[in-house]
Amino acid sequence: MFGGVIVSQNAGQNVDQAEGLRKLINEKTENLKSASANKAGNNAPRVIAVTSGKGGVGKTNITGNLAIALTKMGKKVMVFDADLGLANIDIIYGINPRYNIAHVLAGEMSLSEVLTEGPHGVKIIPAGSGFVNLTQLTEGEKLNLLGEFESMNEELDYLLIDTGAGISTNVLYFNLAADECIVIATQEPTSLTDAYAMMKVMSNSHGAKRFKLLVNMVADAKEAKQVYLTLVQAADKFLNNVVLEYMGFIPIDNSVRNAVRTRTPAIDAFPKGNFAKGITDLAMRIDKSPRPSDYDGNIKFFLKRFMDYSLKPN
Ligand SMILES: Nc1ncnc2c1ncn2[C@@H]1O[C@H](COP(=O)(O)OP(=O)(O)OP(=O)(O)O)[C@@H](O)[C@H]1O
Ligand SMILES: [Mg+2]
Repeated sequence: MFGGVIVSQNAGQNVDQAEGLRKLINEKTENLKSASANKAGNNAPRVIAVTSGKGGVGKTNITGNLAIALTKMGKKVMVFDADLGLANIDIIYGINPRYNIAHVLAGEMSLSEVLTEGPHGVKIIPAGSGFVNLTQLTEGEKLNLLGEFESMNEELDYLLIDTGAGISTNVLYFNLAADECIVIATQEPTSLTDAYAMMKVMSNSHGAKRFKLLVNMVADAKEAKQVYLTLVQAADKFLNNVVLEYMGFIPIDNSVRNAVRTRTPAIDAFPKGNFAKGITDLAMRIDKSPRPSDYDGNIKFFLKRFMDYSLKPN
C-alpha cells in the first residue's frame, strides 16, 4: 500500500518527491511488463472494453448480461464498472456495493475488499458515482492502484469493461488499454455518427486499427447488416486501414426495460426472450473467436497500458 504518500511543503523536496514517485511507478510498470510477458498466454484473461460513443445504446445491459452468459459457460468473469460518472452495473445486477474503487484510490481499502459478487458469481469492481476521472489521478493514487492490481489474486477468463458514454480521455484510455474493443451501435443516426467519431479519434490520434461492431436494438440480421455496412463504408473511405469486424446483433426486446425496472438481469428474468438468446449467442461467438494476434497480457498489463496513457509527465 502506498496510501501514506506525504506531500512536502518544501518546493525543492516536492520536485524530488515527484521524480521519485515517477521513478517508482516506472519501475513498477516495468515489473508488470516482465511479469505479464511471462504469464501471457492462453491462461491470461481476455480484456474486452464495451463502448459506444453515444449513451443509452445498451452497453451496461449487454456487458452485465454477457458476463452472466460467459459465467454460465463455465468461465470466470469480472466486470469493471468504468462508467465513473453514473455507475450502473449495480442497478442491472440488483446489488448495492458498499465500497468502490474510490476507497482503493484513497488507500482506505484493498482492491480485494471492494470486489463484489453479482449474480452467478460474476465479480465486480464497482465504480462509485461521483468519482469522475481515473486519468486525473495523483501519482500516489496511481501507485496505489498499480500496487493493488499487482496483488490481486483472481483467476479470470474475462475482464469486461463497461465504459461510460462519450469520447472523454477516460473512455478512450480504457478502450485503448483493452485487448479488444466492442463498439455498440444502434440504427439511430446519432449512434452511428458517435460510433464513427469514436473509431476516428482512436485510430487517428492513437493508432488503434481493429474494432468489433455489435449492433443493438434491431429487428433482424438485415437491419443489423445495414448498420454495419454504413459504418464500414465510412471507415473504408475516411479512416486509414481501420478493420471493423462484425460481431452480430442483439434484437430489440422490450422485456429488457422490465428487467431493469425490477433490477434483475434480463438473461435471468426472461431467459427465453430474444435478448437472452442474442446475448448467449454473442458469448459463444466471443469465446470461440481467436484472441487478437497482438494479444499481450493480463489485467495488470491492461492497467499498465492505461497508466501509460495517463502517466505522461504533467
Ligand atoms: N436489446 C434491447 N432491447 C430493448 N431495450 C434495450 C436493449 N438493450 C438495451 N435496452 C434498453 O436501453 C436502455 C439503455 O441501456 P443501457 O443502460 O444498457 O445503455 P448504456 O449504453 O449503458 O447507457 P449509458 O451510456 O447511459 O451508460 C435501457 O433502458 C435498456 O433497458
Ligand atoms: Mg451504461
